[in-house]
Amino acid sequence: MSTLLEARQQGQTYPVAVGPALPRLAGFTEGRDSVALVTCARVIRTDPGRRLAASLARSAPLAATLILPDGERGKTLAVLERSASRLLRAGLTRRSLVVAVGGGAVTDAGGFLASVFMRGIDWLAVPTTVLAMVDAALGGKTAVNLPEAKNAVGAFHPPVGVLADPAWLATLPPREMRSGLGEVLKYGFLRPELLPRLAAEARAGRAGARTLADCAAVKLEVVERDPREKAERKLLNLGHTFGHGVEAAGGFRRFTHGESVAIGMAYAFRLARRMGRVGDGEVERVEAALTGAGLPVRVSPSVARKALRLTAHDKKRSAAGLLWVLPIRRGGGWAVEWDVVADPAAVRDAAREIGRQG
Ligand SMILES: NC(=O)c1ccc[n+]([C@@H]2O[C@H](COP(=O)([O-])OP(=O)(O)OC[C@H]3O[C@@H](n4cnc5c(N)ncnc54)[C@H](O)[C@@H]3O)[C@@H](O)[C@H]2O)c1
Ligand SMILES: [Zn+2]
Repeated sequence: MSTLLEARQQGQTYPVAVGPALPRLAGFTEGRDSVALVTCARVIRTDPGRRLAASLARSAPLAATLILPDGERGKTLAVLERSASRLLRAGLTRRSLVVAVGGGAVTDAGGFLASVFMRGIDWLAVPTTVLAMVDAALGGKTAVNLPEAKNAVGAFHPPVGVLADPAWLATLPPREMRSGLGEVLKYGFLRPELLPRLAAEARAGRAGARTLADCAAVKLEVVERDPREKAERKLLNLGHTFGHGVEAAGGFRRFTHGESVAIGMAYAFRLARRMGRVGDGEVERVEAALTGAGLPVRVSPSVARKALRLTAHDKKRSAAGLLWVLPIRRGGGWAVEWDVVADPAAVRDAAREIGRQG
């Protein structure tokens, strides 16, 4: 199946195609002065990686191939500087194209490189993980990290297109797959009408074209209405407030991002229950979907305490205290609201629930 979505953002429109990528590649490279492929070793060594590199070499003036260090190690200012020098030496011009092929780390770094090189050139996103297909490659946010903080230096620079090809997912390590399914389920929690289908896919450990397209459509819809995260875009942070605390409490190694967000989403529903916004049924549905996908919904008491302390440092804070993204019962299901103020006692008690074994 191939689905073509349209992203509208900051007066710009770009296609997001979910399905085979190669047939669409030439449409983006035609007429360019040159093309630079930005990727990482693990990705370009896969079958789809080799095919894509060969296709680019055939159909475009491929001026440079940049192999970034894997994952977050590729998202640094030092790598950015080296990469920009490579593009310059390879003769890229303002009419060249950067093709970023990889997980969210590569699309973030490649997109940011394109945003600053010669004050901004076009880039094409070819996401190769579930997380990048449903989240990182969509919405135009690009960034690298500082030693002090993730994504601290970045830009809004939407790509000219996104080619999300499910064929990449065959080689994705199982833990990365599960981690991405955590974000897939997030869209099911934001749109409960999608949940039965998304939960069934996640339970089977799969993310097919229809699932990827459904999730991408939700993100694009939210970003279109609020490109700069002034309001509705905050919904996409469901589970991320406490989740970031969990990720940090585990030293960014013990839990993947998707695992941390899974715990954070279970936390958000439990906090909402403590505040009388939802009942037991909602908490049970959400936790069943997460555990069904092999994701955690509990941590040890000490990790929960540490996560709660670190959550207090969350950047999405107001004078009123921490602001939460929380569900509230609506019709037969629930809706999710942002900028919700929570009672500190409920915040503590919900953390205690998450930090209980079993
Ligand atoms: N810009 C945004 O809006 C946004 C949103 C969410 C996340 N992000 C960023 O995305 C990054 C996380 O992305 P991620 O989860 O994709 O992680 P990642 O990019 O680090 O990739 C995870 C691992 O999978 C490997 N890999 C990627 N594709 C593969 C494939 N098809 N087969 C085998 N191995 C493959 C990578 O080499 C890496 O080792 C973070 O840096 C995060 O900040 C950005
Ligand atoms: Zn996330």
